[in-house]
Amino acid sequence: MAGDFSLRAASVTNPNMHVAVVGAHGKIGRLLVPILSRAGHRVRAIIRDPNQADALSALGGEPLVVDLEGDVSGSVGGCDAVVFTAGSGGHTSGDKTLLVDLWGAIKMIRAAEAAGVDQFVMVSAIGAIDPDRGRERIRHYLVAKRVADDELERSPLVHTIVRPGRLTDDPGTGQVLAGEDIGYGDISRHDTAETLVACIGEPRAFGKSFSVIAGDTPIAQAVRAL
Ligand SMILES: NC(=O)c1ccc[n+]([C@@H]2O[C@H](COP(=O)([O-])OP(=O)(O)OC[C@H]3O[C@@H](n4cnc5c(N)ncnc54)[C@H](OP(=O)(O)O)[C@@H]3O)[C@@H](O)[C@H]2O)c1
Repeated sequence: MAGDFSLRAASVTNPNMHVAVVGAHGKIGRLLVPILSRAGHRVRAIIRDPNQADALSALGGEPLVVDLEGDVSGSVGGCDAVVFTAGSGGHTSGDKTLLVDLWGAIKMIRAAEAAGVDQFVMVSAIGAIDPDRGRERIRHYLVAKRVADDELERSPLVHTIVRPGRLTDDPGTGQVLAGEDIGYGDISRHDTAETLVACIGEPRAFGKSFSVIAGDTPIAQAVRAL
């Protein structure tokens, strides 16, 4: 676990930050990039397929092609914060879970450390708190997420680990339930993206690991109450 987050708070509360989004063409990523851009942040949109570059530019991002299965060093240089929202998805085999969700995440954490990034926001999963209680079909995925989370918590980075419940494509409500022990539930990708944005540069989110599901507290208020 990194030490005194308050000492570094001043450097990450700038409203015009340079934020890297890893997995920028994913369903959450494509919601997150324009929200960050509209909020005044400069957004490095990390994708693996060069054919996705124009779409990310149109959303307000600056595309950078990086494959998490390859060399990621240098990919987040100059950034103040990194949001990791990449994932191998439910239709790939277990080797991709290892290579992307586990090893890709750990490589990105180490790249962020080497680059002097201040805050690393990880999109984890609610079941990663206790993988042994997860459904057998996804237990290996939950282990991968948990081990990457543990690596981030041990790193010197200012970490924020956001553990959404089951993701839906429902419209956003702007309201969530967030906390350490809130049970299971669904949450829309839109409200998840808004929660991630609310955590960036927010001192109350520094050094925190929390779950988030649909709820009735305005997102900024829920994050400030962490
Ligand atoms: N599904 C759920 O219910 C659930 C619940 C909790 C948490 N999560 C987590 O939420 C996050 C995002 O969810 P989502 O719905 O936005 O997922 P998604 O649409 O599948 O997006 C994942 C992104 O990761 C990218 N990616 C995969 N392998 C890569 C590689 N080798 N190098 C670079 N990028 C790579 C994909 O690129 P391509 O566009 O090229 O495929 C895709 O854009 C993931 O971390 C996931 O584990 C999911």
